[in-house]
Amino acid sequence: MPSIPFQPLTREAVLAQLRTKTLGRSLHVLDEVASTNTYASELAQRGAGHGTVVVAERQTAGKGRLGRHWHSPAAGNLYCSVIIQQPVPPALLATWLSWLPLVSAVSVARAVQTIAEVHPSLKWPNDVLIGDWKLGGLLCESGGWSAPSSPSRPVTDRLEGFVVIGIGLNVNMGRGDFPEELRSLATSLAEETSHAVDRSVLLAAILSELEDSTERLLPSLSKERDRFVTEYSRWCTTLGRPVRVSLADGRTVEGRADSIGTDGSLRLVLAETGTTLEIRAGDVLHLR
Ligand code: BTN
Repeated sequence: MPSIPFQPLTREAVLAQLRTKTLGRSLHVLDEVASTNTYASELAQRGAGHGTVVVAERQTAGKGRLGRHWHSPAAGNLYCSVIIQQPVPPALLATWLSWLPLVSAVSVARAVQTIAEVHPSLKWPNDVLIGDWKLGGLLCESGGWSAPSSPSRPVTDRLEGFVVIGIGLNVNMGRGDFPEELRSLATSLAEETSHAVDRSVLLAAILSELEDSTERLLPSLSKERDRFVTEYSRWCTTLGRPVRVSLADGRTVEGRADSIGTDGSLRLVLAETGTTLEIRAGDVLHLR
């Protein structure tokens, strides 16, 4: 199917749909950018506030996870980055940073389900799938975490920095718009629903879900991690499957994806030894 005729994404259209308090209230809508994540990180370093959102019609150097390229033509897709800035107690920073990408992926899946009436699922950690096809993914990048310099506060009280949540979703792109090597792996909402999807409605829904989940995450982290495990596991289609995982250190392991740890790790029962490996970063391939 060729790409379905779509409306350009404008600031006015997004603001007309927006129901959030903070996320997206500072909004940069660009025609073309190297990467919305890089642009948003630069904005954050120059003082842009919590909830600032950058969207672009096209990226010339879109970034995927694990150093990959993210194919980002002007084909009616969503390329979006959200700056999250919350002061975090030092003892919770590592856990917060590992859960944020996972709860963000759940937020995106919820919004997609509501707006497009499809049934997405997640491949650990944060690929958005429909069936076995990749609809999109998230790339979270953080920077600047240090103690605030104010003398009135004990230095260990809270750390301040930012996380950019980058979201790439194939929305109105037709199968013919995918490069050859992605055609048998990726899908778009238009392909799944046979109609164009209004990106401003979708973006507004994603930002509402994200605002809700990012507000709940930190206060719940010390006592209610099990709730996040349960909720994420409900969306995660990796669990129970035989998988092959390329680890950050270059090793490859195979086994059955068993469960999600309280730190958001993937617990893999290794085929060779039957022992459980807790994976914090890696690239998962579903084998069946
Ligand atoms: C993945 O590898 O699955 C994550 C892809 C994330 C792509 C998005 S598009 C908007 C934002 N800007 C980028 O350069 N990357 C993310």
